[in-house]
Amino acid sequence: MTPPHEITETVEPLPHVAIIMDGNGRWAKSRGLSRPEGHLAGAEAIKRIVKAALYRNLPVLTLFAFSSENRLRPEAEVNFLFNLMHRYFDEHLKDLAEEGVYIKIIGEIDGLPQATLKLIEHAQNATRDNSKMTLQIAFNYGSQEEIVYAAKSIATKVSENKLSPGDITKEVFEENLRTAGLPSPDLIIRTSGEYRLSNFMLWQAAYAELYFTDVYWPDFNERELDIALKEYSTRERRFGRIIDDDNSNDKKDKSFHEKFSLEKASK
Ligand code: FPP
Repeated sequence: MTPPHEITETVEPLPHVAIIMDGNGRWAKSRGLSRPEGHLAGAEAIKRIVKAALYRNLPVLTLFAFSSENRLRPEAEVNFLFNLMHRYFDEHLKDLAEEGVYIKIIGEIDGLPQATLKLIEHAQNATRDNSKMTLQIAFNYGSQEEIVYAAKSIATKVSENKLSPGDITKEVFEENLRTAGLPSPDLIIRTSGEYRLSNFMLWQAAYAELYFTDVYWPDFNERELDIALKEYSTRERRFGRIIDDDNSNDKKDKSFHEKFSLEKASK
């Protein structure tokens, strides 16, 4: 495989990048094209970005390809999106497998058409021993449903005496999410100028850095990805702590802490 474009910036590798791919319809409309043409262009962008992620040695790339709520779209569009996923794997599964990509599909698979279930099973099985990059595809995925799914599976374990309620920790909860075994995303990118998570990885996004761009998904390319990664590298991730080398205010802080101490408050 030839590099997709010259990598101009050296970016720090980061464990997990997730993308909410949005704007196919508006991209098409702005060009006088149909929505299916927008989705076709969106599928081309997927090809580019998966290649780019491989060349940037990203260990995990998650793509939000189809939400549970997307099923409420007109049937013809839903069918088209399902067919696109089939086409994507028909065309690329072999290459992805050879490149060392492990494909993991997350989402509610119960109730999907038999052919789609087969496709998902085949893609996962054909790549299960690969470890260069995990391509996690959120398909028929909704984060609230995923959280309910985890709660149900924990409740079942408790009812079967395999787990006691006191043993339910954050880690146990995570092991029961559909994303079990993978790190939470460090960076979540959303295209097309919308500023929300739309039921995507609500649990896992607790400390993710969020990056929003006005670029419609079909126009998202290697350079746009590098801009996002560069922006990420400037973020200071504090995970709720204080990271401050400047101690010039320590004395002032201390005197306030003393003034408002719990001991004084309770007197
Ligand atoms: C948002 O566009 C995108 C989607 C509904 C899902 C992403 C789907 C693709 C990129 C197509 C290819 C899929 C696979 C699995 C190969 P939108 O229709 O919501 O755009 P709009 O908000 O502008 O209408």
